[in-house]
Amino acid sequence: MLKLTNGHGSMFPLLLSCLCFLNSFGFVVCGFTSSFIRTQWPAKDIPLDNEVFAVPKGYNAPQQVHITQGDYDGKAVIISWITFEEPGSNKVLYSSVEHQYGHTAEAKVLNYTYFNYKSGYIHHCLVDGLEYNAKYYYKIGLGDITREFWFQTPPKVDPDSSYKFGIIGDLGQTFNSLSTLDHHMKSGGQAVLYVGDLSYADRYQNNDGTRWDSWGRFVERSVAFQAWIWSAGNHEIEYRPDLGEPTPFKAYLHRYATPYMASKSSSPMWYAIRRASAHIIVLSSYSPFVKYTPQWLWLRSELKRVDREETPWLIVIMHSPMYNSNEAHYMEGESMRAVFEKWFVRHRVDLVFAGHVHAYERSYRISNVNYNVTNGDRFPVPDKSAPVYITVGDGGNQEGLAGRFLSTQPEYSAFREASYGHSTLELKNRTHAFYQWNRNDDGVLVPTDSVVFLNQYW
Ligand SMILES: [Fe+2]
Repeated sequence: MLKLTNGHGSMFPLLLSCLCFLNSFGFVVCGFTSSFIRTQWPAKDIPLDNEVFAVPKGYNAPQQVHITQGDYDGKAVIISWITFEEPGSNKVLYSSVEHQYGHTAEAKVLNYTYFNYKSGYIHHCLVDGLEYNAKYYYKIGLGDITREFWFQTPPKVDPDSSYKFGIIGDLGQTFNSLSTLDHHMKSGGQAVLYVGDLSYADRYQNNDGTRWDSWGRFVERSVAFQAWIWSAGNHEIEYRPDLGEPTPFKAYLHRYATPYMASKSSSPMWYAIRRASAHIIVLSSYSPFVKYTPQWLWLRSELKRVDREETPWLIVIMHSPMYNSNEAHYMEGESMRAVFEKWFVRHRVDLVFAGHVHAYERSYRISNVNYNVTNGDRFPVPDKSAPVYITVGDGGNQEGLAGRFLSTQPEYSAFREASYGHSTLELKNRTHAFYQWNRNDDGVLVPTDSVVFLNQYW
């Protein structure tokens, strides 16, 4: 069901291992462990006084501007920003004509405290009723201190609407993170599927919220102009009862809105959107999800709502990978795999993207749905109905690379490498998608793992 189109070029001499075997479908499968490692800059956050975190000039200027999809089908956006001195204007002026803002929408404003940190005024504004495939300009702020941005709405939901996603995970705010962000912005990705772990503010004393703010300013260069589709990671939990902060995901949920109610979900961390030819389902690895929980019930319903005649590409994103052969976070995704994998196979999910492990890995189409605690069946097997699992937690955060893969590459693992990078997925039509993992190679984007995926439904 998948075809290597680019091989791995000059990678071959560098391969540590190559496993080839004849699987039960009678075709040869090879797995590659690349010894190629690129970690150009130290795993340290960029100092706060660096220009990449610059606060916009002017009294109470809006900062940390970001947008995400605001409805089920891509005709709305949620525009968010933060002001610090006072709430300021809660209005978004917008138009399809530059500098002629004929429409207004109003934001909700909220804030929070976390131990001794006090957030700015966080604005979330739903702008809906937009046209498909159109460029919109928007302006926020007040008086002389305003800022202007633009975004492009996706094409209409249609099985042959082409669209290019970037996939980024575990980004953080180091110079490696900056390289990943820069490469994404050059790769032509029109929106981002973000697979969790954003700012790593929880690595600082008392989970210093100023590092949430610096991250917001850091990624604004991309996310003010295109939708990032958010999923939560473990660094967003911030459960610190010792600080008097027992509410998980407090900063994340205040700062990053999602359109969860549009997909009839009761949790902002579990939701679905349709964008161009894709139906994207967002799960949280750190929420209750076993049988009978609200999340389990919601996912069961959402999978039944998927219409592959309209959105042939069915994509799931989460943080903790279900299949991972790195020593880091080994088998942490097993509980979710045990609950949901059979649904993914039954509904012929095309791709499952995860982060968490700071390295890259892609699987073949395999499943372990026959796992049985009484009869001993316990091995993943090739399965034409199963998704491809891709781990792309290599955005570049301060924890560094996960450089130690298990010494024997599992048969299900197609390609793995411990370098920083990001992926792109270009849906061409209802049958074909071009996928690429792009390594940060001494600051240069190098397409390293390229695959043409055939749709699981068509
Ligand atoms: Fe993580």
